[in-house]
Amino acid sequence: MENSFQNEEKKIILSGIQPSGILTIGHYTGALRNWAAMQDEFNCYYMVADLHSITVRQTPAVLRKSTLDTAAMFIACGVDPEKSILFIQSHLPEHSQLTWVLNTFTGMGECSRMTQFKDKSANHAENINVGLFTYPVLMASDILLYQANLVPVGEDQRQHLELCRNLAQRFNNNYSETFIVPEPYIVKLGAKIMSLQDPSKKMSKSDSNSNASIFLNDDDTTIKNKIKRAVTDSGSEIKYDESRPGISNLMSLYYIATGKNYQAIEEEFSGAGYGDFKIAVAEAVAELIAPIRDKYFSVRKDEKALKEILTYGAEKASIQARKTLRKVYKKVGFVNF
Ligand code: TYM
Repeated sequence: MENSFQNEEKKIILSGIQPSGILTIGHYTGALRNWAAMQDEFNCYYMVADLHSITVRQTPAVLRKSTLDTAAMFIACGVDPEKSILFIQSHLPEHSQLTWVLNTFTGMGECSRMTQFKDKSANHAENINVGLFTYPVLMASDILLYQANLVPVGEDQRQHLELCRNLAQRFNNNYSETFIVPEPYIVKLGAKIMSLQDPSKKMSKSDSNSNASIFLNDDDTTIKNKIKRAVTDSGSEIKYDESRPGISNLMSLYYIATGKNYQAIEEEFSGAGYGDFKIAVAEAVAELIAPIRDKYFSVRKDEKALKEILTYGAEKASIQARKTLRKVYKKVGFVNF
């Protein structure tokens, strides 16, 4: 397989998704949709973040399967292995190696301020491990190893990216220019899709209520039923308003599926009720997901080909990862091996 990655002039993108369950429409809107759109303009590295996912206890066979499911979903959402480098994070030891070095540049206070650490510690009180604590340092290593300029993510990752930028600057200031300081790339619309059952919280693949999330492999009927059952706010007008998160969330989904902005949606549904609007959203979202789901099942069927793509991706990624790590080891004073 060949890939068109050799253009040195293009800026670099890196992003990742944890393989901790079937991906939702939130992953699509916050990340994957943008990943696919950026492939021609940038040199892109996209990885399945399996090292991150073991900060919460996983069943080994399930993790192995989810890792491949997640990679197949990247391709189903339009990530093209001939344009971008697709790989599994644990295939590259450099991610863990750089994390160790950056751990020594990270304050305990910085990690304890991370909202995701606080949330996850509350949700997994029985297993608040050190990995969960240094999770954002591993994420910084993922990004800095590839000298990424831009990191396309959803809103919930903004704080982690801020830490990454601080670590890059701190390291550069302490030694000399080593890392590119990356910028977050967070789209305005769709960067935070909320739960269909509780629009005050983020839609998540691990929600215990499966009606709360639209999964990218849900069938048409399931999608339509979930949207029809979505919790809405009091009132009946189809109008975007942050104090009415239920209807606003459905409007975001309709925007993602149709490309119509909020004003156009408000005009289209002026005088209509929630019932009519939900039917339209349900139809549009089902239409959006159908080709993704079909492609996902066809890619996932050929596990051998999928693994070949990931092996090839890891080999390609390791060229840059080794180069950065060598530079870092030299700067901190390790004897050349
Ligand atoms: P993760 O696996 O939780 O989510 C992956 C990506 O999907 C986005 N996302 C959403 N966007 C909008 N609405 C939602 N409801 C929603 N749910 C998820 C997330 O913002 C994210 O962009 N730590 C990261 C994975 C990671 C990473 C990296 C990302 C590891 N290393 C390096 C960027 C760069 C995470 O747990 O994402």
